[in-house]
Amino acid sequence: MTGRRGHGVRKDLIAGNWKMNSTHLEAIQMVQKLSYRLDVADHDRVEVVVCPPFTALRSAQTVIEADGLQIRLGAQNCHPDAAGAHTGEVSAPMLAKLSVRYVIAGHSERRQLFAETDAIVNRKAKAIIGAGMTPIVCVGETLEQREAGDAEAVVAAQLGGSLAGVDAPAISGLVVAYEPIWAIGTGRTASADDAGSMASFVRSTIGSRWGEAADGTRILYGGSVNPGNIAGLMAKDDIDGALVGGASLDPDQFASIVRYWL
Ligand code: 13P
Repeated sequence: MTGRRGHGVRKDLIAGNWKMNSTHLEAIQMVQKLSYRLDVADHDRVEVVVCPPFTALRSAQTVIEADGLQIRLGAQNCHPDAAGAHTGEVSAPMLAKLSVRYVIAGHSERRQLFAETDAIVNRKAKAIIGAGMTPIVCVGETLEQREAGDAEAVVAAQLGGSLAGVDAPAISGLVVAYEPIWAIGTGRTASADDAGSMASFVRSTIGSRWGEAADGTRILYGGSVNPGNIAGLMAKDDIDGALVGGASLDPDQFASIVRYWL
């Protein structure tokens, strides 16, 4: 556990969201290459998570287990129900059986492209927790909302809806990713100050409902994170890590992000 910079008991978490990229064969190589670039000290300091597409999870799990890697496995989505007539969907218990530890819930691409509402994200988060895994609940405003001065109100509403009815122990183990939509895949990162102040707002919003459980919640920033901007983001007291898209597909870049203090 690292106790520096006021993150207290919260261990840094750097997660790679591969989105719809990589076959299972490519995933094996990416996990192996990443593992060669990280050592025990890195893993002591940072929890490293990769979130490949569903079709690559089993292969990634096999490499991680066969080689005894400390890289953790995450998934990008799941259905809220445990089983049933939902053609094409994957449930939380199915993911848990693959040693998946984290599941992204409510990524802005799912909210925008697949019409996921806070109510759906809430059901997914509860299903993920119920299956013994940790949700990475994503929130974040559009450029129009930010320019209208509504960013905090939007994020507060997303948190309220997405986390409704989640109990305090789950909140203290939860991961929230603040990903301003205008910063995703655009090369335009929120300034460290803006990202840090929104992360603090997220923690205080959670704290106002769940009290000190919010001290355990890990808050990530996501949106054009790269080796050049990660250190400034991580210097913020309430930013406990990053959810990395494009740069996580390159093991060299992703490893540099994990080793942000070097
Ligand atoms: P980029 O890092 O490619 O901007 O993507 C961010 C993201 O959406 C991570 O979930």
